[in-house]
Amino acid sequence: MSNRRDFMGMALGAFTGLGALGALYAAKKTWEPLPSVKAAGKAVIDLSGAKEDVLNTEVWRGKPIFVMKVSKKNPAYKDNRLVKVGNDKFFIAIGLCTHLGCIPTYFPDKGKFICPCHGGQFDAAGRVLKAPPPKPLVIPPFNVKGTKIVLGEEGEEYKKMKAAKLV
Ligand code: FES
Repeated sequence: MSNRRDFMGMALGAFTGLGALGALYAAKKTWEPLPSVKAAGKAVIDLSGAKEDVLNTEVWRGKPIFVMKVSKKNPAYKDNRLVKVGNDKFFIAIGLCTHLGCIPTYFPDKGKFICPCHGGQFDAAGRVLKAPPPKPLVIPPFNVKGTKIVLGEEGEEYKKMKAAKLV
């Protein structure tokens, strides 16, 4: 019985993984990646060319990472989950819904993410606007270096956010 349950768990895990990969591939066609360099579990992303309210998606440690320069007219602009880089504010988050792991789609005209699986919604700071997601999109460890961010490194800004339970 427990073997069967293990098998079912594994099969479901594999199925979910394949689904996520498929969605990742489909979404990739519409992504606008920023220049990035990956090495040793880290990714260095150059934010200098980012356009306001245009979602960029990177892949880091097999996960989609949302990166977006948030404009002053975006309702999320003053949210303390945004990361200050120079004079700009960026939304950085793991692009997996906190409900069951689907990849939410960003709608620039609405200024929000809508999850295709069960209709959960997030604002441009990753906060939940509509259930079922139980918590905001997760902010990965990052370090700001000039106009670049290093994913996979815990910089001062990230540590402060972590202490404030924002990540
Ligand atoms: S996985 Fe996103 S709402 Fe269910």
